[in-house]
Amino acid sequence: MTTATTTRHAAGVADAVKVYGSGDTAVRALDGVSVGFPAGRFTAIMGPSGSGKSTLMHCAAGLDTLTSGVAFIGDTPLSTLDDRRLTLLRRDRVGFVFQAFNLIPTLTVAENITLPLDLAGTKGSREWIDALVDVVGLRDRLHHRPAELSGGQQQRVAVARAFAGRPDVVFADEPTGNLDSRSGEEVLNLLGRAVRRMDRTVVMVTHDPVAAAHADEVVFLADGRLVDRMESPTADKVLDRMKAFDAKGGRS
Ligand SMILES: Nc1ncnc2c1ncn2[C@@H]1O[C@H](COP(=O)(O)OP(=O)(O)OP(=O)(O)O)[C@@H](O)[C@H]1O
Ligand SMILES: [Mg+2]
Repeated sequence: MTTATTTRHAAGVADAVKVYGSGDTAVRALDGVSVGFPAGRFTAIMGPSGSGKSTLMHCAAGLDTLTSGVAFIGDTPLSTLDDRRLTLLRRDRVGFVFQAFNLIPTLTVAENITLPLDLAGTKGSREWIDALVDVVGLRDRLHHRPAELSGGQQQRVAVARAFAGRPDVVFADEPTGNLDSRSGEEVLNLLGRAVRRMDRTVVMVTHDPVAAAHADEVVFLADGRLVDRMESPTADKVLDRMKAFDAKGGRS
């Protein structure tokens, strides 16, 4: 990859293979994927159901381990870390947003946002948290509990929480999957703003071409392989690419 020498990658995998199970029932969820996620950019991962998107994200984020190949965060190959170091790296350098918002119901919005910092026993930067609260537009909801918020508002809390510790990279697995299109659009705008205005790195799995169009680049998986990349995606271009998968059984 010629860009590798000039582009700093916040995370990525090289020759990634992930096999679930063994023998007759083994599933090769990743079949030799090499992809870097450039720092300061918003990358979307797309592909048919079962193509390995979540597996790629989980392995790149250190939530799961590869069968072979390397996953890295910054310059750190995850396989060189013992469990304790991996836990610390995930805590300090990686943020997550999931389809189900996964907020703590008994904590307020403010407490949910600073939870990763509180768990780490650090205060973080007050200015940073303050700026985040404004970016996600939750200033007037800080003392509410998640049950008192709409789905879109809850996901915005989850986004703020993911960025609270200024991680190197935030991974989001279908963050708009449970939202109506307007709330989804707000969350996507938020992720885009974090990348463009706050110099963050986001990697997002999505099924939705409109969501993918918010990214700087889309990488396409099919049958556990990287089959295409698209710079400056539009919803129409992404939709056309997805149709080609359907027509050709996944392969381009
Ligand atoms: N824990 C597991 N045990 C066994 N097989 C698994 C496991 N997790 C995923 N798989 C299989 O690995 C393949 C890739 O799954 P993965 O969840 O990465 O797909 P995906 O692209 O995220 O799909 P979707 O769009 O439906 O979320 C699928 O065939 C899936 O059944
Ligand atoms: Mg998935």
